[in-house]
Formats: sequence, C-alpha cells, structure tokens
Amino acid sequence: MQTMREIVPSPPPVARNDVAAVQALFHQNVVPSYGRFNIVLSHGSGSYLYDLTGKRYLDLGGGIAVSALGHAHPAITEALIDQSRRVIHTSNFYYHETQGRLAQSLVQLIGPGKVFFGNSGVEANEGLFKLARKFGHDEGRFEIITTINSFHGRTLAGISATGQEKIRKGFEPLVPGFRQVPYNDLEAMRAAISPATAAIMIEGVQGEGGVTPATPEYLLGLRELCDEQKLLLFMDGVQCGHFRTGRFQSFQRILENIPGGVEFLPDGISMAKSLGAGFPIGAFWVRAPYADLLSAGTHGTTYGGSPLACAVALKVLEVIEREKLADNARRVGDFIKNGLASLAQKYPGLIKNVRGLGLMIGLELAPDIANLPGEPTKTQAVRFANLLHGAGVLSIPAGALILRLLPPLNLRQIEAEEGLNIIASVVAKLAGNAAS
Ligand SMILES: Cc1ncc(COP(=O)(O)O)c(C=O)c1O
Repeated sequence: MQTMREIVPSPPPVARNDVAAVQALFHQNVVPSYGRFNIVLSHGSGSYLYDLTGKRYLDLGGGIAVSALGHAHPAITEALIDQSRRVIHTSNFYYHETQGRLAQSLVQLIGPGKVFFGNSGVEANEGLFKLARKFGHDEGRFEIITTINSFHGRTLAGISATGQEKIRKGFEPLVPGFRQVPYNDLEAMRAAISPATAAIMIEGVQGEGGVTPATPEYLLGLRELCDEQKLLLFMDGVQCGHFRTGRFQSFQRILENIPGGVEFLPDGISMAKSLGAGFPIGAFWVRAPYADLLSAGTHGTTYGGSPLACAVALKVLEVIEREKLADNARRVGDFIKNGLASLAQKYPGLIKNVRGLGLMIGLELAPDIANLPGEPTKTQAVRFANLLHGAGVLSIPAGALILRLLPPLNLRQIEAEEGLNIIASVVAKLAGNAAS
C-alpha cells in the first residue's frame, strides 16, 4: 500500500528544526488573533505530539476535542487517500453516496430527522440560527435565548449567541435577537421568554465556560418549556458531542437511567470537531417535524458535506464503533477524573474542583496560587498549562482558572496513568514551591 509520505511531498526543509524561524513566519505573516503557546509542533502519532526540537507531549488537549482518534491514525490516512483517488469535491448541485450515508448514520445515532453539512462548529450553529428564524418568521418571532458562559463560535451571530463578554467586546453592534440567562436555571429561562422568542440553545456540557454539565432536571424542564411555548430546543454538541461523554450526544449520557430520559430529543443539534477527527466538517441535525423547513435555495455552503470530508467522518464513526471507544471514553475518563479528584483532596490549596463527563474533564485551580511561575499578566490556567508543557502534557485552558482535558477517545489506560503521574508531579512541585 502506498503511504501518505510517498504521495504528498515532504514540506520544504527551510524551516525544519528551526523554532525561531517558524515563529518569525507567524509574526510576520499570520494575523495575531490567537494567543499561542511557545511550542512549534512538528508531527504526531497516536496520543502524542512532537515539537520541532523532538520533545514529546502527551496530547490531553486533543486539539480542543477534535483529534478523536489521536494523530496519524492509519484508518484516517487510508480514508483520505482512498477517497481522494475517486473524487474530493463535487458541489451540492449533485448527489453522492458518502454524504447520504453519513447523514443516515447520524440520524440513526440521534433520532428521526435530517442533517445539513457545513465545515465548522460555528457554521453548524449559524444553520440552526437560520432554522429558528425561518421557524418563527411568519409570526414575527426571531429571538434565540442562550446562556451565560456559553460558547457558540466566532462569527458575528456566533459571538452574539455566546454568553461571554470578552468574546464580544469590540465587535458591537451585535446581531440582534440573542439574549443570555444563567445556565442550569430553568426559571431564569422561563422568565426570559418573550413573544418574539423562537428558540433556546444550550451546550449539554459547557466547554469554554469551564466544563459544566447540564443537570437532568434542566434538560427535561427545557424540553417541557419549549413544547409549552412552541419554541425550538437546540443543543450545541460541537465540543461535548461525538461520544466524548461516553454516549454519542451529551444529553444521552446525562439522561441515562433518568425517568423520561429515553424519550428526550432536542429539535436541533450542532456538531463538528470530533466528527471529522481533524478533517474540517460540521453538521446540524434537525428533528423530523422541522427537517424540511430549510427548503431548496434557502441555505447552503460550497464545501459542505464533500465526498472527502464525509468519507473521513464515516471512517471515524466506524473506528469508534469497532474499537468501542464510547466505553473507553467513559472508563478512561472516570479513571482520570478519580485520579484528579484524589489529587484535589491532597492539595486543596492548589486544586479547587474536578468535574466533567467521560473524556471531557475540567480541573479548576484554586484562586491565587502562591509562587505559580510565569508572567503575572497571564492567567493562572495559562501558567499552569505552561508548567504541564514543561513536563510533557498538553491541556486546554478555559477561563482564568480551569484546565480542560479533551484527549483522543482512544487514549489508553497506560497513557492516562502517565498523564496523571505528570500532572501529580507538577502539582507536588508547586505545593513545595508554595510551602517554601
Ligand atoms: C460548544 C462550541 N460551539 C461552537 C464552537 C465553534 O466551533 P468552530 O471553532 O469549529 O467554529 C466551539 C469551538 O470551540 C464550541 O466549543
């Protein structure tokens, strides 16, 4: 079998093994809209990434919940090569089998409805926002209520939906028709509904907001409220979806063994990130009664659901099922969470709380940790992430005090143990510093 290396030429050698040269390329040519860590990555294998100097990192950040099968997974490489030999792109003027089969798989995993394909999480959410507008249009309803500390993406509508001031600042005026209320507060949601409201959107587990799962009562209550008030209930599953919590969608996990839980379905779900496991693809599912609201000509995107993207996403689903990675996410996730909880018990002055579901875990640092190394202008979460980098672990900061672990769904137990040991050694050293 021909390998990717034989088909795709190696990158030019100019910048290879030269950290400063790569960083200079960025500083001179790339819009500086990201705060980047001081790491230049070179390649990956399984749950590990390597930097240009050859240093190895255990990737517990998973590219922000994207790299579901880790790095350089041979099944993905093969799907890319195989499909690109047939056809990469056709446009949505035509039918092709891979898009139809992927839509069918997603419908089977969620419930009766249909799927629209785009390229990213925010684009999936935009599609749901348009669906809500269409749904409420003839009655003059257009408003979508979201929650404080939510994150729904970076387009204008995405930041208007997002309940975080820092994301919206400087981009006003926002898109009209979005309001935020406290998360997990059913009464606040009820009180916020106006005659103009068409939909509610929440994350099943708030990700950027700090890994906060919805309560079962909240989910069931929102469903009842939406039925009563004739509103659409949307769930943003971009980060917490795709088996990360141990079930395909987070609400399936949260409502496990809860009376009324099996019947629960939202009216729309956005997906991206792990759906393509690194290949860009987004999608939304819409429940059957509303599945034909966006009729021909009302919505579209050039690349959405390309044969290549769908072939990769189908392969990702196949591997997740074959290797029982939902169970793995649950088992290894519980193992990590329990390990971190013990650490929090041992060092309450450093770790305030550990929470999450499956392989979506939040580690909340105590405020004002004494002697935490790093620039004082950086948040504690960023400074702690830097300490972990030094020790060979990647994690994702959320807010000022929280670190997220969103590793590949195929993270092995032995890798989880390695990660826990590294985190424990960093915390122990920090405790020593704080005491000294
Ligand atoms: C819950 C949630 N929704 C939407 C998005 C936006 O996704 P994308 O960056 O692919 O547009 C993200 C990204 O982090 C997310 O976590």
